[in-house]
Amino acid sequence: MIIDGKKIAEELRFKLKKEIDQLPTNLSKPGLTVILIGDHPASQIYVRNKEKFAKEVGINSKLLKFEETITEQDLIQEIHKLNDDSTVHGILVQLPLPSHIDSGKIISEINPAKDVDGFHPNNVGNLSSGNDALVPCTPYGCYLLLKKVIPNLSGLNAVIIGRSNINGKPMAQLLLKENCTVTITHSKTKNLKDLCLTADILVASVGNPQMVKADWVKKDCVIIDVGINRLEDNGTKRIVGDVDFENVKDLVKAITPVPGGVGPMTISCLLNNTIKAYKKINSI
Ligand code: GUN
Repeated sequence: MIIDGKKIAEELRFKLKKEIDQLPTNLSKPGLTVILIGDHPASQIYVRNKEKFAKEVGINSKLLKFEETITEQDLIQEIHKLNDDSTVHGILVQLPLPSHIDSGKIISEINPAKDVDGFHPNNVGNLSSGNDALVPCTPYGCYLLLKKVIPNLSGLNAVIIGRSNINGKPMAQLLLKENCTVTITHSKTKNLKDLCLTADILVASVGNPQMVKADWVKKDCVIIDVGINRLEDNGTKRIVGDVDFENVKDLVKAITPVPGGVGPMTISCLLNNTIKAYKKINSI
Protein backbone atom coordinates (compact mmCIF):
# COMPACT_ATOMS: atom_id res chain seq x y z
CA MET A 1 0.00 0.00 0.00
CA ILE A 2 1.21 3.48 -0.91
CA ILE A 3 0.21 6.06 1.72
CA ASP A 4 -1.30 9.09 -0.03
CA GLY A 5 0.06 11.98 2.04
CA LYS A 6 -1.26 14.56 -0.38
CA LYS A 7 -4.83 13.35 0.06
CA ILE A 8 -4.60 12.93 3.85
CA ALA A 9 -3.08 16.44 4.13
CA GLU A 10 -5.92 17.84 2.00
CA GLU A 11 -8.50 16.14 4.28
CA LEU A 12 -6.85 17.73 7.31
CA ARG A 13 -6.94 21.19 5.66
CA PHE A 14 -10.62 20.67 4.82
CA LYS A 15 -11.34 19.92 8.49
CA LEU A 16 -9.32 22.98 9.60
CA LYS A 17 -11.13 25.26 7.14
CA LYS A 18 -14.49 24.09 8.51
CA GLU A 19 -13.27 24.74 12.05
CA ILE A 20 -12.11 28.28 11.14
CA ASP A 21 -15.41 29.04 9.38
CA GLN A 22 -17.21 28.21 12.63
CA LEU A 23 -15.08 30.41 14.92
CA PRO A 24 -16.81 33.27 16.77
CA THR A 25 -17.08 36.26 14.41
CA ASN A 26 -16.18 38.81 17.12
CA LEU A 27 -12.60 37.48 17.23
CA SER A 28 -9.89 38.18 14.64
CA LYS A 29 -8.97 35.23 12.39
CA PRO A 30 -5.98 33.05 13.34
CA GLY A 31 -2.74 34.76 12.27
CA LEU A 32 0.55 33.12 11.27
CA THR A 33 3.75 35.08 10.64
CA VAL A 34 6.71 33.44 8.94
CA ILE A 35 10.15 35.03 9.20
CA LEU A 36 12.46 34.34 6.27
CA ILE A 37 16.05 35.49 6.29
CA GLY A 38 18.21 35.57 3.17
CA ASP A 39 17.42 33.74 -0.06
CA HIS A 40 17.94 30.02 0.65
CA PRO A 41 16.17 28.50 -2.41
CA ALA A 42 14.52 25.52 -0.65
CA SER A 43 13.28 27.81 2.14
CA GLN A 44 11.67 30.13 -0.44
CA ILE A 45 9.66 27.21 -1.87
CA TYR A 46 8.55 25.98 1.59
CA VAL A 47 7.52 29.46 2.58
CA ARG A 48 5.51 30.05 -0.60
CA ASN A 49 3.58 26.81 -0.03
CA LYS A 50 2.96 27.68 3.60
CA GLU A 51 1.44 31.03 2.54
CA LYS A 52 -0.74 29.48 -0.14
CA PHE A 53 -2.28 26.81 2.09
CA ALA A 54 -2.67 29.14 5.08
CA LYS A 55 -4.78 31.51 2.96
CA GLU A 56 -6.78 28.58 1.58
CA VAL A 57 -7.99 27.54 5.06
CA GLY A 58 -8.64 31.11 6.25
CA ILE A 59 -5.51 31.85 8.27
CA ASN A 60 -4.10 35.39 7.98
CA SER A 61 -0.62 34.62 6.78
CA LYS A 62 2.17 37.19 6.75
CA LEU A 63 5.72 36.89 5.52
CA LEU A 64 8.49 39.02 7.04
CA LYS A 65 11.63 38.96 4.92
CA PHE A 66 15.00 40.19 6.12
CA GLU A 67 18.43 40.51 4.57
CA GLU A 68 21.06 37.87 5.34
CA THR A 69 22.95 40.61 7.26
CA ILE A 70 20.29 41.24 9.95
CA THR A 71 21.82 41.19 13.44
CA GLU A 72 20.76 38.75 16.13
CA GLN A 73 19.61 41.67 18.29
CA ASP A 74 17.40 43.14 15.54
CA LEU A 75 15.87 39.75 14.85
CA ILE A 76 15.09 39.29 18.55
CA GLN A 77 13.40 42.70 18.54
CA GLU A 78 11.20 41.65 15.60
CA ILE A 79 10.23 38.49 17.48
CA HIS A 80 9.31 40.49 20.59
CA LYS A 81 7.03 42.68 18.44
CA LEU A 82 5.24 39.57 17.17
CA ASN A 83 5.03 38.15 20.72
CA ASP A 84 3.16 41.37 21.70
CA ASP A 85 0.92 41.48 18.61
CA SER A 86 -2.54 40.11 19.52
CA THR A 87 -3.39 39.40 15.85
CA VAL A 88 -0.46 36.95 15.60
CA HIS A 89 -1.04 33.47 17.06
CA GLY A 90 1.75 31.57 15.32
CA ILE A 91 5.39 32.59 14.76
CA LEU A 92 7.71 30.52 12.59
CA VAL A 93 11.35 31.36 11.93
CA GLN A 94 12.38 29.48 8.81
CA LEU A 95 15.60 27.47 9.33
CA PRO A 96 18.48 27.33 8.56
CA LEU A 97 19.57 30.77 9.77
CA PRO A 98 22.77 32.52 8.65
CA SER A 99 25.80 31.31 10.61
CA HIS A 100 26.22 34.55 12.63
CA ILE A 101 22.81 33.95 14.26
CA ASP A 102 22.37 31.40 17.06
CA SER A 103 19.15 29.58 16.17
CA GLY A 104 18.72 28.16 19.69
CA LYS A 105 18.80 31.67 21.14
CA ILE A 106 16.30 32.94 18.54
CA ILE A 107 13.86 30.07 19.10
CA SER A 108 13.94 30.60 22.87
CA GLU A 109 12.82 34.24 22.37
CA ILE A 110 9.52 33.15 20.73
CA ASN A 111 6.55 33.12 23.09
CA PRO A 112 6.09 29.33 23.61
CA ALA A 113 2.30 29.76 23.22
CA LYS A 114 2.95 31.02 19.64
CA ASP A 115 5.75 28.56 18.82
CA VAL A 116 3.95 26.67 16.03
CA ASP A 117 7.17 24.82 15.12
CA GLY A 118 7.27 23.28 18.61
CA PHE A 119 11.00 24.01 18.89
CA HIS A 120 10.96 26.18 22.04
CA PRO A 121 12.48 24.39 25.08
CA ASN A 122 9.11 24.63 26.91
CA ASN A 123 7.35 22.76 24.13
CA VAL A 124 10.19 20.23 23.79
CA GLY A 125 10.04 19.63 27.56
CA ASN A 126 6.26 19.35 27.64
CA LEU A 127 6.26 16.85 24.79
CA SER A 128 8.90 14.69 26.45
CA SER A 129 7.05 14.86 29.81
CA GLY A 130 3.86 13.72 28.09
CA ASN A 131 2.12 17.07 28.73
CA ASP A 132 0.13 19.15 26.26
CA ALA A 133 2.54 20.82 23.81
CA LEU A 134 2.84 22.34 20.37
CA VAL A 135 4.46 19.41 18.54
CA PRO A 136 6.93 19.86 15.63
CA CYS A 137 5.07 19.64 12.33
CA THR A 138 7.06 16.99 10.44
CA PRO A 139 6.97 14.27 13.11
CA TYR A 140 3.34 15.05 13.88
CA GLY A 141 2.56 14.59 10.17
CA CYS A 142 4.43 11.26 10.20
CA TYR A 143 2.48 10.23 13.28
CA LEU A 144 -0.90 11.03 11.67
CA LEU A 145 0.06 9.02 8.56
CA LEU A 146 1.10 6.05 10.70
CA LYS A 147 -2.14 6.18 12.70
CA LYS A 148 -4.12 6.00 9.43
CA VAL A 149 -2.47 2.65 8.64
CA ILE A 150 -2.18 1.24 12.18
CA PRO A 151 -4.64 2.85 14.62
CA ASN A 152 -3.13 0.99 17.62
CA LEU A 153 0.67 1.26 17.71
CA SER A 154 1.05 -0.24 21.21
CA GLY A 155 3.93 -2.70 21.61
CA LEU A 156 5.31 -2.26 18.09
CA ASN A 157 9.04 -1.93 17.40
CA ALA A 158 9.76 1.48 15.90
CA VAL A 159 13.16 2.27 14.42
CA ILE A 160 13.97 5.90 13.64
CA ILE A 161 16.95 6.70 11.43
CA GLY A 162 18.13 10.22 12.34
CA ARG A 163 18.29 12.05 15.68
CA SER A 164 17.47 15.64 14.68
CA ASN A 165 15.60 18.06 16.92
CA ILE A 166 13.24 18.78 14.00
CA ASN A 167 12.19 15.18 13.44
CA GLY A 168 14.04 12.21 14.98
CA LYS A 169 13.84 13.17 18.65
CA PRO A 170 10.23 14.46 18.73
CA MET A 171 9.16 11.45 16.60
CA ALA A 172 10.59 9.17 19.28
CA GLN A 173 8.58 11.00 21.95
CA LEU A 174 5.33 10.66 19.99
CA LEU A 175 5.88 6.94 19.44
CA LEU A 176 6.85 6.35 23.09
CA LYS A 177 3.57 7.98 24.09
CA GLU A 178 1.84 5.39 21.87
CA ASN A 179 3.66 2.60 23.77
CA CYS A 180 6.04 1.68 20.95
CA THR A 181 9.48 0.27 21.72
CA VAL A 182 11.61 2.96 20.14
CA THR A 183 15.17 2.76 18.81
CA ILE A 184 16.79 5.98 17.59
CA THR A 185 19.68 5.33 15.23
CA HIS A 186 22.23 7.76 13.73
CA SER A 187 25.46 7.99 11.77
CA LYS A 188 27.49 6.18 14.49
CA THR A 189 25.01 3.30 14.92
CA LYS A 190 26.44 -0.19 14.44
CA ASN A 191 24.49 -2.85 12.52
CA LEU A 192 21.90 -0.40 11.20
CA LYS A 193 20.57 -2.91 8.68
CA ASP A 194 19.97 -5.54 11.42
CA LEU A 195 18.13 -2.98 13.56
CA CYS A 196 15.95 -1.98 10.60
CA LEU A 197 15.06 -5.64 10.12
CA THR A 198 13.44 -5.60 13.61
CA ALA A 199 11.20 -2.64 12.70
CA ASP A 200 7.41 -2.86 12.53
CA ILE A 201 7.60 0.91 11.94
CA LEU A 202 10.56 2.48 10.16
CA VAL A 203 10.97 6.26 10.03
CA ALA A 204 13.79 7.31 7.72
CA SER A 205 14.95 10.87 8.33
CA VAL A 206 18.63 11.22 7.43
CA GLY A 207 18.90 12.92 4.05
CA ASN A 208 20.76 10.05 2.40
CA PRO A 209 19.18 9.22 -1.00
CA GLN A 210 17.73 5.68 -1.26
CA MET A 211 19.82 4.43 1.67
CA VAL A 212 17.25 1.92 2.98
CA LYS A 213 17.37 -1.09 0.66
CA ALA A 214 14.96 -3.97 0.01
CA ASP A 215 16.94 -6.39 2.23
CA TRP A 216 16.76 -3.95 5.21
CA VAL A 217 13.01 -4.30 5.77
CA LYS A 218 10.65 -7.03 6.94
CA LYS A 219 7.47 -7.72 5.09
CA ASP A 220 4.86 -6.34 7.51
CA CYS A 221 6.77 -3.09 8.07
CA VAL A 222 5.20 0.38 7.67
CA ILE A 223 7.73 2.87 6.30
CA ILE A 224 7.57 6.63 6.68
CA ASP A 225 10.15 8.31 4.45
CA VAL A 226 11.01 11.85 5.55
CA GLY A 227 13.94 12.32 3.16
CA ILE A 228 13.83 14.93 0.40
CA ASN A 229 16.96 14.46 -1.73
CA ARG A 230 17.64 15.97 -5.14
CA LEU A 231 19.19 13.47 -7.54
CA GLU A 232 20.45 14.03 -11.03
CA ASP A 233 20.94 11.02 -13.30
CA ASN A 234 21.64 11.33 -17.02
CA GLY A 235 20.72 15.00 -16.87
CA THR A 236 17.25 14.36 -15.40
CA LYS A 237 16.59 15.90 -12.02
CA ARG A 238 14.28 14.18 -9.57
CA ILE A 239 13.49 14.09 -5.89
CA VAL A 240 13.92 10.85 -3.96
CA GLY A 241 13.55 9.85 -0.33
CA ASP A 242 15.87 8.01 2.07
CA VAL A 243 14.30 4.69 1.01
CA ASP A 244 14.86 2.81 -2.26
CA PHE A 245 11.14 3.19 -2.98
CA GLU A 246 10.88 1.27 -6.28
CA ASN A 247 12.54 -1.85 -4.85
CA VAL A 248 10.92 -1.69 -1.41
CA LYS A 249 7.30 -0.68 -2.07
CA ASP A 250 5.96 -4.13 -2.97
CA LEU A 251 7.68 -5.88 -0.05
CA VAL A 252 6.17 -3.98 2.87
CA LYS A 253 2.74 -3.37 4.39
CA ALA A 254 2.75 0.36 3.59
CA ILE A 255 5.14 3.13 2.55
CA THR A 256 5.00 6.88 1.94
CA PRO A 257 6.18 8.10 -1.48
CA VAL A 258 8.56 11.04 -2.05
CA PRO A 259 7.21 13.46 -3.11
CA GLY A 260 3.58 13.19 -1.99
CA GLY A 261 4.04 11.56 1.41
CA VAL A 262 5.28 13.40 4.49
CA GLY A 263 5.92 16.78 2.76
CA PRO A 264 2.28 17.84 2.29
CA MET A 265 1.45 16.71 5.85
CA THR A 266 4.08 19.03 7.36
CA ILE A 267 2.31 22.14 6.08
CA SER A 268 -1.15 20.93 7.13
CA CYS A 269 0.24 20.23 10.61
CA LEU A 270 1.66 23.77 10.76
CA LEU A 271 -1.85 25.11 10.05
CA ASN A 272 -3.22 22.70 12.68
CA ASN A 273 -0.72 24.06 15.23
CA THR A 274 -1.65 27.65 14.36
CA ILE A 275 -5.31 26.92 15.11
CA LYS A 276 -4.35 25.03 18.28
CA ALA A 277 -2.30 28.05 19.45
CA TYR A 278 -5.15 30.42 18.51
CA LYS A 279 -7.71 28.43 20.51
CA LYS A 280 -5.47 28.22 23.58
CA ILE A 281 -4.62 31.95 23.47
CA ASN A 282 -8.33 32.82 23.15
CA SER A 283 -9.39 30.15 25.72
CA ILE A 284 -11.72 28.47 23.19
N1 GUN B 1 13.47 24.13 7.73
C1 GUN B 1 13.29 22.83 7.37
N2 GUN B 1 12.28 22.28 8.08
C2 GUN B 1 11.83 23.24 8.90
C3 GUN B 1 10.78 23.28 9.87
O1 GUN B 1 10.06 22.30 10.14
N3 GUN B 1 10.59 24.46 10.50
C4 GUN B 1 11.38 25.55 10.25
N4 GUN B 1 11.14 26.66 10.93
N5 GUN B 1 12.35 25.55 9.36
C5 GUN B 1 12.57 24.40 8.68
